[in-house]
Amino acid sequence: MNSIQVHGGVALCGKVCIQGSKNAALPILAATLLTKETTFLLNCPRITDVHGMISLLKSLGMKVNWEENGVRIEAGELCKGTMQGEAIRGMRSSLFLLGALIATCGEATMEYPGGCMIGKRPIDIHLSALRKMGVCFCEEDGLLKAKVQNLHGAMIELPFPSVGATENIILAAVMAEGETQVIGAAREPEVEALCRYLMCCGADIEGAGTSCLKIRGGNTLFGVEYRIPEDRIVAGTYLFATMVTGGCTLLEHAPVGQMDAVIRVAEQMGAVCHMVEEGLYVQAPEEIKAIGRLQTKPYPGFPTDLQSMALVAASLARGETDIEEQIFENRFQIVDCLNKMGADIRVMHSGYARVKGVERLSGGLLEAKELRGGAALVIAALAAEGESIITGCQFIYRGYEKIENDLRELGARVAGV
Ligand code: UD1
Repeated sequence: MNSIQVHGGVALCGKVCIQGSKNAALPILAATLLTKETTFLLNCPRITDVHGMISLLKSLGMKVNWEENGVRIEAGELCKGTMQGEAIRGMRSSLFLLGALIATCGEATMEYPGGCMIGKRPIDIHLSALRKMGVCFCEEDGLLKAKVQNLHGAMIELPFPSVGATENIILAAVMAEGETQVIGAAREPEVEALCRYLMCCGADIEGAGTSCLKIRGGNTLFGVEYRIPEDRIVAGTYLFATMVTGGCTLLEHAPVGQMDAVIRVAEQMGAVCHMVEEGLYVQAPEEIKAIGRLQTKPYPGFPTDLQSMALVAASLARGETDIEEQIFENRFQIVDCLNKMGADIRVMHSGYARVKGVERLSGGLLEAKELRGGAALVIAALAAEGESIITGCQFIYRGYEKIENDLRELGARVAGV
């Protein structure tokens, strides 16, 4: 099913359970390459990006099996072949295999990883950090080749707190000789989850969740059972869905502690949000208030992955909102679709949009072109009058396990077609 049909105009009500986090699961799956023992990951989301990463692990010789509560990964004899194909090209997180393979095999050859087309997404920060740890890179026939004789710790200062680069450095550093310090590390909760997983396995990491990491490498890593934390972006998606439909929901197990900036924006827009024992309770306002200005920032700022959802909410707010996208340069791809639905959004330049709130949106034929923008179109359709068909949903399934079921549980009229 690559399309979702939505009959809009139903206020979302009820409760829904938040899935495990995509961005935590992917680097942790890559990290399982670092142990010779068996790993069991509870709460691992069954999304296409995870299936892609698992097929890459299998192609490297790991044995991976889904069980009722999660996924079991058993180490095998690692093969050192070239990593190429759609799973590498279509998914930027395949890049985590670079750090993990360098750490375990001392070499890696792979195609340049792709991912959602939300900007240029270069990998210079990854490469220059790994070079400091002794890794040599070259390009041959369009393939990236990495080799290291003596993987060693280093003092690394990041020019920007790149999530992926921080994670790649951590993967290499836990197996390197000596100490690695990362200054200016990304503080995203998913980076912390990777550190916590590795610490459970026996890695020596100080500063998890801060911008300054100290990693003493060389410990043998054990197999463990680890629970993937819930997905703050999926929780945020359903929070905005509740807001724009005028509903009232309980987002069970939402990782409220990681959602400060998102909850603050929702509250400024007029929502009532309460942290309760079961998760996050959200009540939409009678009328969404425009908040004037919203900027995306590295954690703990407002996440770029929820900017498209905030754009939908701002489109239905009373007043004007300026949205500044500061992380990826091409994240306003849904503007044309939203304007077709009746929104009034002007992209002033690549990272800056001015949104004038309108009273209503109308349904239509909408095309998802990337993961988070696609999910935002579903939300816009839920709020709109009439029927919408969203095509290109293969992008949405990269990160949302069962978006139609979740929304149906909240009363939405949604079907996969
Ligand atoms: C991760 C998340 C993604 C999220 C993003 C920002 C995963 C699997 N994906 O992506 O959902 O939107 O963090 O929170 O966890 N950059 C460079 N050179 C580099 C690396 C990055 O210029 O070597 C730039 C990127 O082009 C981008 C910015 O830095 O403009 C942020 O990228 P980064 O934090 O690395 O994001 P990802 O790890 O790709």
